[in-house]
Amino acid sequence: MASAFERITCVQGDITRERVDAIVNAANEALRGGAGVDGAIHAAAGPELLAACLELHPGGCPTGEARLTPGFRLAARHVIHTVGPVWRGGTQGEERLLAACYGAALDLAAEHGLTTLAFPAISCGVYGYPHERAAPVALSALGRGLVRRPSIEAVRVVLFGPQLFALFRNVHASMSAQGA
Ligand code: APR
Repeated sequence: MASAFERITCVQGDITRERVDAIVNAANEALRGGAGVDGAIHAAAGPELLAACLELHPGGCPTGEARLTPGFRLAARHVIHTVGPVWRGGTQGEERLLAACYGAALDLAAEHGLTTLAFPAISCGVYGYPHERAAPVALSALGRGLVRRPSIEAVRVVLFGPQLFALFRNVHASMSAQGA
């Protein structure tokens, strides 16, 4: 069995093109689509995605939790919608909530027998989470979740821009070296 961090790969790209069991969406609590990666995923999945969110999850999704829908026209079979915290300076439980997003998505995937996942950098755009703080929180939460969920074979963290990719890649490499 590969170690938790060996099952994580950081790549630069567009998450809507990932051919995995599920891609994770950085959504809002209403699950009604939006800008950023949320907008890109809904555009690529087609209008059925919004209809499924409203039909399957009419109450939306609280921050830190995750909800599953089909992927429709996406290459990915499913979408796991999670809602990251809005950065409010770091004293409102943001770190705990951000980590909870990654853990909840892994748990939901494992409960549905999904084994390959792709994540964006949750909260690192509109929600304003400082990137250098988000990277270690995200990667350690993924590492802990993968220890807990051995059925998940591979997690890809898909970073849209080169700077964020370099940051996540470097943090991942240092965590792997420490055997975190
Ligand atoms: N593939 C991968 N990553 C992407 C893509 C894409 N196609 N498009 C954007 N991103 C990146 C952004 O560059 C950022 O690093 O996803 C990260 C998360 O940014 P946002 O999409 O803005 O998500 P977030 O910060 O969690 O804010 C969520 O924004 O779009 C609305 O409805 C959404 O209200 C919610 C809020």
